[in-house]
Amino acid sequence: MNKVKIAVLCSGGGTNLQAILDAQAAGNLPDGEVTLVIADSKEAYAVERAKHFGAETAVFDKREYPRAEREGAILASLKAHGAELVVLAGFLTVLSADFVKEYEGCILNIHPALLPAFGGKGMYGLHVHEAVLARGVKVTGATVHFVTEECDGGPILAQKAVEVREGDTPEGLQQRVMREAEWVIYPAAIQQVCKKMRGESR
Ligand code: GAR
Repeated sequence: MNKVKIAVLCSGGGTNLQAILDAQAAGNLPDGEVTLVIADSKEAYAVERAKHFGAETAVFDKREYPRAEREGAILASLKAHGAELVVLAGFLTVLSADFVKEYEGCILNIHPALLPAFGGKGMYGLHVHEAVLARGVKVTGATVHFVTEECDGGPILAQKAVEVREGDTPEGLQQRVMREAEWVIYPAAIQQVCKKMRGESR
């Protein structure tokens, strides 16, 4: 049975991409393979990680492609590569409803908090951890969910809680949420979805 072709979309450092690639290299993603990595920024270090791994890459920089053109180019690239599952890993552009419709039920995202708390427009990256600390919650974490046209509102697939500690900074908390939750649950959730996709087509 062929593996599910996975395309990962990134905007920055790509540590979640790295966790997925590491899982694949370790044999922990038996039903899927990352064949394409797309970034919307020329500076995204994620692209270097992908090249180092040997995955194909494409960059459609925000400053060169207006939003609609960028989405069109990303979609064309996904189709040309035969991508079946689209994985958002620190991809910081909210996708349009039309885009989501093209890959309905086959787009995953990871969010660095326990949704539905601390989600929605403007809640990304460090902003999420700043909001968590400002609100004084004692437990945060990460959520893997399917992407629908509602920002951060799709069905939840996996979550893992992380304790907020006295004296945490947004940067420190971000690192702990990544290490203890994101890098753990994302590769596992992706494998779960790939297995289901292949099971259904058998
Ligand atoms: C991660 O913490 C991810 O959860 C978050 O951006 C970071 C990207 O880091 N995503 C969002 O906030 C999406 N709303 P990475 O590029 O090192 O994986």
